[in-house]
Amino acid sequence: QELGDKLLSIKGFVFPESNKNSLTPEYMEQLKTFQIRDDDVYVVTFPKSGTVWTQRIITLLYEKELNESGEQTSYDLMPWLEFPNEGEDHSNRRSPRLFCSHLFENLVPEGLQERGKIIYVSRNPKDIMVSYFHFTRFMKILANSETYNELMEKFFSGRMIGGCWFDHIKGWYTNKDKYNILFLRYEEMIRDLRGAVVKICEFLGKNVSDDFINSVVKKSSFNYMKSDPKANYKSLPDDIVDHEQGAFLRKGTVGDWKNSLTVAQNEHFDRVYQERIKDLQLDFVWDF
Ligand code: A3P
Repeated sequence: QELGDKLLSIKGFVFPESNKNSLTPEYMEQLKTFQIRDDDVYVVTFPKSGTVWTQRIITLLYEKELNESGEQTSYDLMPWLEFPNEGEDHSNRRSPRLFCSHLFENLVPEGLQERGKIIYVSRNPKDIMVSYFHFTRFMKILANSETYNELMEKFFSGRMIGGCWFDHIKGWYTNKDKYNILFLRYEEMIRDLRGAVVKICEFLGKNVSDDFINSVVKKSSFNYMKSDPKANYKSLPDDIVDHEQGAFLRKGTVGDWKNSLTVAQNEHFDRVYQERIKDLQLDFVWDF
């Protein structure tokens, strides 16, 4: 379904029109029965919640298993489940397979309820919105929102990549007991990256040395990643992104919404947010 703004939607999942060859309704359907392996690892997020960051942490942790030659980027090593590259068939990949996904809970392979591990990273939605505002300027394949008022309406109606944030978090949160899943927050990763890396290692059953953990923490820090060609997505082609206008690693802070939303916009957001999230026992870290 065409949504305008250069976006398409399949079953409520929204993605850029430019991905229409990789994500078709048939492929979305096939994913339901995609065969999961015990040692598969999935990072699932709503866009702008720290996907690329977590993707980097995990690919660093799996350096040995992946036989990493030092040439491959984190997105080669941990590709998108729902956007396979041309000619790529995830079924043929060697184990352990690492995946990223923005899919809703009701769209991921059913086999994930039996095997495989999921790391779900959440972030407070005001910072997601601000991050997305800048992201649309950087991504040529996305339409800009001129104002935060405009973007906020898109956020509430789900007219952005990923679709509706409320549905995403609700679906994953209320069904979490069906999966082997670790919930992480972007904000806790900011506050204590080492602690988050240790948590991830424990969840994945990785027994590694302190030195190794230290090196993963160093290489996944904001500044290191920003200048690391394997992690910073600088190799994305110019017809997709405008490297002059931004970067995947933009600011990397908590509470940037305070610099971007007016008091009235913030109050409006709070009202809608309260109304739509009220049945869930969820709280977010809005600022430190
Ligand atoms: P900001 O735009 O607020 O800076 P995603 O990867 O899901 O698209 O999320 C992008 C957000 O994660 C951006 O937020 C980006 O700066 C932040 N990010 C990426 N790597 C990071 C890191 N190593 N440390 C902190 N934030 C990071």
